[in-house]
Amino acid sequence: MADALVIRDLHVQFHTRRGVYKALNGVNLRLRRGEVLGIAGESGCGKTTMGLAVMALLPRNASFPQGQIIFDNKDLMNLPREYWERVGDRFNPKQNERILRRVSKAMGRIRGVRISMVFQEPMTSLNPVLSVGFQIAEAIYVHDPASLAHRVLARTRATASQMPELLAILGTARDDEAAVKEFAAKHDLLGIEDQVLSVWRRDDVHISRKEKAIRLLAGQQIRPVERNIVETVARAGSIPPRFSRVPVLSRVVRRVLLKEGYRKARELLTSLGIPHAERVLKMYPHELSGGMRQRVVIAIALVNNPEVIIMDEPTSAVDVTVQAQILELVKRIRTSVSAAFLVISHDLAVLAEVSDRIAIMYAGRIVEVAPTDKILRNPLHPYTQLLISAIPTLEGKPVEGIKGEVPDMRALPAGCAFHPRCPFAFEKCLEIIPIDLPHDRDQLVACWLYEAK
Ligand SMILES: Nc1ncnc2c1ncn2[C@@H]1O[C@H](COP(=O)(O)OP(=O)(O)OP(=O)(O)O)[C@@H](O)[C@H]1O
Ligand code: SF4
Ligand SMILES: [Mg+2]
Repeated sequence: MADALVIRDLHVQFHTRRGVYKALNGVNLRLRRGEVLGIAGESGCGKTTMGLAVMALLPRNASFPQGQIIFDNKDLMNLPREYWERVGDRFNPKQNERILRRVSKAMGRIRGVRISMVFQEPMTSLNPVLSVGFQIAEAIYVHDPASLAHRVLARTRATASQMPELLAILGTARDDEAAVKEFAAKHDLLGIEDQVLSVWRRDDVHISRKEKAIRLLAGQQIRPVERNIVETVARAGSIPPRFSRVPVLSRVVRRVLLKEGYRKARELLTSLGIPHAERVLKMYPHELSGGMRQRVVIAIALVNNPEVIIMDEPTSAVDVTVQAQILELVKRIRTSVSAAFLVISHDLAVLAEVSDRIAIMYAGRIVEVAPTDKILRNPLHPYTQLLISAIPTLEGKPVEGIKGEVPDMRALPAGCAFHPRCPFAFEKCLEIIPIDLPHDRDQLVACWLYEAK
């Protein structure tokens, strides 16, 4: 399977008055297209830092002494060699800021559109003074206004006679998505696909109502001036700068496209199983329950059909029943979108529910990665084994905690960072950092115990 995202030897350090925190110390990871890869590890091992590094959203005191983040065959970091050599304890804030700005610029067209992230704290990632609907609509308007323009135009172009034809195709198609895409391409209706599928895939609505709703998509009227503006945005792929210079134009484009953004937000919330989506769109974040807020944040991450979605602790802020609903939702989303997911959690049981593969992180490195059932049945790394034995079960099996503490990231132990806590540590572990050793075709472990294999 091709890779959606590759991280190579990524190092990230935080420079503070209290010292340099080495949060990532050579992360190597491959996220394959369409898979769900879980990242597990104790608090403070660098999970969030890795997600933020991929999004180029690290704070100003963060430096990347080395590493690559490869997306779409391009290295998003593309760090100059002199920078690698100079950075470290001789941190130069000005130069660092220049590098961060460069990396952020490289990410500009990708962040939120092709790679998106659900942040650890749903409340802080939503704006408390803006309604939910506006926040979702604006996320599309800012990143991909052309997709909104195409949606409007598709409805104006679609004719009443085309819709029964489309419904007949849908009724017999095995792959509804491919069928709608082919139909839209053939009839110059690009932009209608999501609108049709969001109705067609609803299982809470009778087929006759779905057919009626799809028929109603055809023949929308639009004022000539609005049509001209929307066509220009669709052709340009973005909002041309001249529009923002003429207030009347910028008002029209904003009104028409944000209205369309609301429409897409409603479809999305409905498809995520949120009841009364229309009402929820008008609410403010503080009016929503924790679970609902998390779903809204997930909706914002999905809204531009990204290729990679990073979810940082999607279930940690909610209770167990809502956690189950969010996990169900993640499972459902992955069947309906073709994105690859990086799901971060300190809870292995959560990851076991949704992941195809699981990577275990310790002190800023990936120490083991394998398919979920394999890592749960046959964990190789001593840290993974201890993490698994620490999962509580209903049978009341005695739960063993992991002795010792996560090391101080300012002064990591030499050799294997896990050696002070490892029951199997031997001489080599105290001196040399373990390399990634392939155990099986699909299982990698960074532990000297497996060197001979
Ligand atoms: N802005 C910062 N300045 C200084 N140190 C930081 C900063 N952000 C993170 N760190 C340090 O980097 C390390 C990794 O933090 P990170 O938030 O990535 O861990 P995590 O695995 O996501 O933990 P958790 O499960 O608690 O969310 C920690 O030691 C943390 O103290
Ligand atoms: S390398 Fe050594 S210390 Fe590290 S996990 Fe393996 S046995 Fe334990
Ligand atoms: Mg975190």
